[in-house]
Amino acid sequence: MKKIKIGILGCNYMGKMHADCYGAIEGVEIVAVADLNEETAKNVAGRYGSKVYTDAKKLIEETELDAVDICLPTFLHAQYATLAMDRGIPYLFIEKPVALNQEECALLLQKQKETGCRVQVGQVIRFWDEYVYLKKLFDEKMYGDVVNASFKRLSPSPTWSSNNWMKNTKLSGGAIVDLHIHDIDYMLYLFGEPKKSSYVKNIRGEHNSYITTVCEYENFVVSVEGTWFLPPSYPFNMYYRVVFEKAVVEYDKGKVTVYDENGSFTPSIEKSAAVFGDFEGGNISEQSGYINELTYFIDCIKMDKEIERARLCDGARSLAFILDELK
Ligand SMILES: NC(=O)c1ccc[n+]([C@@H]2O[C@H](COP(=O)([O-])OP(=O)(O)OC[C@H]3O[C@@H](n4cnc5c(N)ncnc54)[C@H](O)[C@@H]3O)[C@@H](O)[C@H]2O)c1
Repeated sequence: MKKIKIGILGCNYMGKMHADCYGAIEGVEIVAVADLNEETAKNVAGRYGSKVYTDAKKLIEETELDAVDICLPTFLHAQYATLAMDRGIPYLFIEKPVALNQEECALLLQKQKETGCRVQVGQVIRFWDEYVYLKKLFDEKMYGDVVNASFKRLSPSPTWSSNNWMKNTKLSGGAIVDLHIHDIDYMLYLFGEPKKSSYVKNIRGEHNSYITTVCEYENFVVSVEGTWFLPPSYPFNMYYRVVFEKAVVEYDKGKVTVYDENGSFTPSIEKSAAVFGDFEGGNISEQSGYINELTYFIDCIKMDKEIERARLCDGARSLAFILDELK
């Protein structure tokens, strides 16, 4: 069977992770990779026999591809996504946050309309096993209606990014755009649009914001907390607690617990991926969400299907929500 031909732009933290995911998915060939830093590109290319570029534009221009995967710093997403769409690449994966501002999102959505490119955004929490489990409980009303929900993403300040671009709010959007967007996107995916939202931010140095968002839905309230303002010794943690009428479901330190009137138990949640790769020093606790989202992406390509999960318009909506809060 013909292999799906992928080009990866940006080969450091996420680019390497994506390459290892594709390496674990059957029927994918990483044809070419690009990074300004040749050694970083070679590190990935060496593992997958890919052609090395230091100029991402050249990779897009010269390579016949089924898809381009953009793992570049956020301030470059729109520029390279536009180049790929103009080149007629049929599928595009753009890491989250999809862009930095509304203008870039509008440009990308317009380009998508003109070119018909099928675009997925790396809002990975939609694919994270424990969050997939929660969505199923909610959709099937397993424990009745929601009474209250809380989502948290607690992280030390990021240290791995090339030239520390992540700590420059102009290039990354800071913690609210880069980190908090994960839970805001999931909240919108799970519950839809809130009736009202308010937002509290305690600044301790611009990029290190501590953010709390409170959203009001018809019959319940959701609080979403995110921060990079934690010491390096603090273990990265993502957390949810949803109080349903008949049970509380909590995800903490990698484990889901259900508390109901009969006691508590750990539900069996099928994990889709073995642990692989080395992602020390970053704010990633495991790989299964990434392999799930990229497996979905590759399946859409193999079946010549539209992207229906984590679409470009979803990524743009979540960014717009965050930017509205910042106003
Ligand atoms: N989904 C997630 O959980 C998650 C986690 C971390 C980062 N991200 C996102 O992934 C994207 C990449 O982040 P990262 O942590 O991998 O950053 P990084 O700094 O680790 O990697 C970016 C790479 O891009 C290269 N690069 C920069 N400019 C370039 C250019 N013009 N042409 C070619 N290469 C260039 C750099 O040399 C670097 O190797 C960001 O949008 C970030 O927000 C997502």
